Amino acid sequence: MRVASNKVQDLISFYQNELKEVYAPGEINFIVQQSFKHFVNFNSTDLIIKKNDNLNQSDLLHLYDCCKALKEHKPLQYILGETVFYGLTFKVDASVLIPRPETEELVELILKDTQRVDRLSILDIGTGSGCIPVSLKKNKPEWEVSAIDISKNALDVAKQNAELNNCSVNFFLKSILSEREYAELGNFDIIVSNPPYIARQEEAQMHERVKNYEPHIALFVEDSDALLFYRNIIDFCKTHLNINGQLYFELNPIYANAIKTLAEGSEQFKEVSLLKDLSGNIRFLKAIK
Ligand SMILES: C[S@@+](CC[C@H](N)C(=O)[O-])C[C@H]1O[C@@H](n2cnc3c(N)ncnc32)[C@H](O)[C@@H]1O
Repeated sequence: MRVASNKVQDLISFYQNELKEVYAPGEINFIVQQSFKHFVNFNSTDLIIKKNDNLNQSDLLHLYDCCKALKEHKPLQYILGETVFYGLTFKVDASVLIPRPETEELVELILKDTQRVDRLSILDIGTGSGCIPVSLKKNKPEWEVSAIDISKNALDVAKQNAELNNCSVNFFLKSILSEREYAELGNFDIIVSNPPYIARQEEAQMHERVKNYEPHIALFVEDSDALLFYRNIIDFCKTHLNINGQLYFELNPIYANAIKTLAEGSEQFKEVSLLKDLSGNIRFLKAIK
């Protein structure tokens, strides 16, 4: 890997050449924009009008290392240490899942459903970076927002993200699989979760970017019980979701009907529906108690 010179245009060509086997051209453009913005504070106009400028040695090195890591499939968000979710900046590291656009849709769905509701309590189960509770609290400062995760390192990141975005969320280190741990959590008007749901047998077909870098505790469940988290959260709702309260799940379309059957079979919800994401895939479940 060699850069022709430290001219901006040569660095851009370097990214295009080195990454062409790993990313589509449109993705490379996005990566170039994000990397230059992060390391050199260039916007997309700067990339054009300053293309013959020379980069200093330190900026050149940062951009070079970034490209090298990208070629090894490391996700851009982990290299930069941050991402944007629902218009807010979130710190991310290897202890948290990189928030996905579908999860932004989940946040949007909850905010739309509750437009006229000022006071309510909400719990996010398996919060990771804290993207769901922080975005909700930022848009609804009067809500009482709580979140749990089994990973202390993830919770540390989530707490930093609440601070970064200037909002207060109650974080608890707890497992949703342990009734003893969650018993004292209290009751909520909304429970939301994007839990781990990828069966181990799917690992072989997954992209290196995901399976080699994202935390396995956030991704995988045992093949024998892919619905483990959904079942436990539905059970949790029996004692911790208020009457007329709502449960929201993000889910894998292949399990959608099975999860709906679980929710209906628990005989606590008056309405259970599956909803599509913007790509037209069934991606969410909403249940009203
Ligand atoms: C798919 S990630 C979702 C992260 C975040 N909510 C998002 O949407 O980007 C699942 C999260 O569940 C957490 N988790 C795994 N097992 C758990 C358990 N038993 N109890 C609570 N959280 C758990 C993981 O640490 C991870 O942060």
